[in-house]
Amino acid sequence: MRSLLFLLVFVVKGMLAQQDNTHKTSSIYVPPKDPHVLAKLEQWQDLKFGILIHWGVYAVPGIIESWQLCSEEWINRPDGMSYEDYKKWYWNLSSVFNPVNFNPESWAKASKAAGMKYVVFTTKHHDGFNMFDTQQTDYKITNGPFKNHPKANVAKHVFEAYRNQDFMIGAYFSKPDWHSQDFWWDKYATPDRNANYDILKYPEKWKAYQDFTFNQIDELMHDYGAIDILWLDGGWVRPKETVNDEVRSWGAPIPEFSQEVDMPKIAQMAREAQPGIIFADRTVHGPFENYQTPERKVPEHKIDNPWETCMPLANNWGYVPNDTYKSTTKVIHSLVEVVAKGGNMLLGIGPKSDGTLPYEAVTKMEEIGNWLTANGAAIYGTRTVDHYQEDGIFFTSKDKTTYAIYLVKEGEKVPKTISWSINLPKKGSKLSLVANGNKIKYSVSNGKLTAQIPANLRNTNTAAIAFAFKQ
Ligand code: GLC
Repeated sequence: MRSLLFLLVFVVKGMLAQQDNTHKTSSIYVPPKDPHVLAKLEQWQDLKFGILIHWGVYAVPGIIESWQLCSEEWINRPDGMSYEDYKKWYWNLSSVFNPVNFNPESWAKASKAAGMKYVVFTTKHHDGFNMFDTQQTDYKITNGPFKNHPKANVAKHVFEAYRNQDFMIGAYFSKPDWHSQDFWWDKYATPDRNANYDILKYPEKWKAYQDFTFNQIDELMHDYGAIDILWLDGGWVRPKETVNDEVRSWGAPIPEFSQEVDMPKIAQMAREAQPGIIFADRTVHGPFENYQTPERKVPEHKIDNPWETCMPLANNWGYVPNDTYKSTTKVIHSLVEVVAKGGNMLLGIGPKSDGTLPYEAVTKMEEIGNWLTANGAAIYGTRTVDHYQEDGIFFTSKDKTTYAIYLVKEGEKVPKTISWSINLPKKGSKLSLVANGNKIKYSVSNGKLTAQIPANLRNTNTAAIAFAFKQ
C-alpha cells in the first residue's frame, strides 16, 4: 500500500513537472509548397542568429511575462493578494507603463553589433496588452501615458529601426489573449491557460474571438511595412485534430473543445499582404508551422527541416531585476551547436520599462558580437554536414569550404594541439584560423588530424571561447 502511494506521488509529481510554459517540438513537420515561402526560409536559414524581444507591461514590476495571471499550479504566484485583486493590479500596469527612453534605433544598432540578423518582437503577449496601435481594443500602448510620444506605436518603430539595419522582421503574436472577454470571460473562473468557457456552447463568442484575432493580425500584415515572419505563440490554442498523443504527453491542460483561431483564413490574408511570409505556428504541426521552435534547449541531434531554438539571454524572457545571465561562452557554444545541427538561434532579451536595454544584456551582446565579427564566416550562410560533431568540435560548411569549430570549455586552458578525425581536409590543402586568416600547422596520421595552436594565441587569448578553423 505504502509503496503504491509512493508511486502515485511520484507519478503525479512527474506530471506536474512536465506542466510548464516551454513549447516542445513535434516530431511531425510538413514542408510548405509555396516557392516564395521556400525561398524566404532559405534566406532566413542563412541568418542563423536573431533577437527575440519581450516587452510589455510586465517590464514595469519586472516579473515573468503574463504567466502570473494564470492560476495553473506550477506558477509561482505572489503571496498576500487574492487572485482577483492580483489580476486587477496586473491589468492596471498599463496606466503606469511610460517608456520615455524608448529608442529602437539604439536597440537595432546594439543587435547588429551583436551579430544578430533578424528580430522577433512581441506585438502582444498572453496578457493581451498590445504594443501596437490596434483598433480592436483599448488595451494598448497608444492608450496610456505613452500615447503622445512620437514613437507611441511601438511595434511600428521597432520594425522600422531594425529594417533600417537590414534585419528580417518577425512579429510575435500570442494566439491566446487573457485580457479578451471572448477568451477569458469574466462570467467564469480562469483555472488555466485555455479559453474558460465551452466554445461548443457559445459558438458566437468564439466566432467573435476568431474575428478579433483575424483583425489584429490583419492590421499587422497591412499597416506595419514588410514582415517576414509571423511568430505565433501559445501552441495550446490549436485545432483539436492536431492534438495527438505526443501533444498530450507535453502535459499542458487540453480542453474538450477545439480552440481553432481559423489559421487557414488568417494565413491566406497574411500571404496576400506579405507574399512568402513564414509562419511559425508553434508546435501546431501542419501547413502553418513552417519552422519548428524548440525552446530553451538545443535538440540532441541534427534536424533536417528548418528550425530555431529560442533561448533567453538571462533566465527570463522579459526584464527581471537581478536576473541571472548566461555567460557569453555559453551563448556562443549554444549558437555553434545549433548551427551545426541545422538550426537558427533566437536570443531573448527584455528591455526595461523605461525603454532601455539592461546594462548586462548590452555588455554580453558586445562580447557575442566580438566573437561573431571574427568568426562569423564559419556560422552565417552555412549548412550542415553529415557528420557534424566529434566531441567538443562542431562542423559546418559553405560552398566547398568546411569549418571545424572547437569549443573551449569555460575555465579550460587553450590546448597546444587540437585533433579531429572526421571531415578531414584534402591532402595538401591548407588549414587556417577564421579569426585572423593565419595558416595553422597540422599533420595527419592514422586518420587523425592534429593542429598546432600557436603560443601567442594560447597565452594572450585567455578569453578564447571557440576556435574556428577553415579547411
Ligand atoms: C513560452 C512562454 C512565453 C514566451 C515564449 C517565448 O511560450 O509561454 O511566455 O513568450 O515561450 O519563447
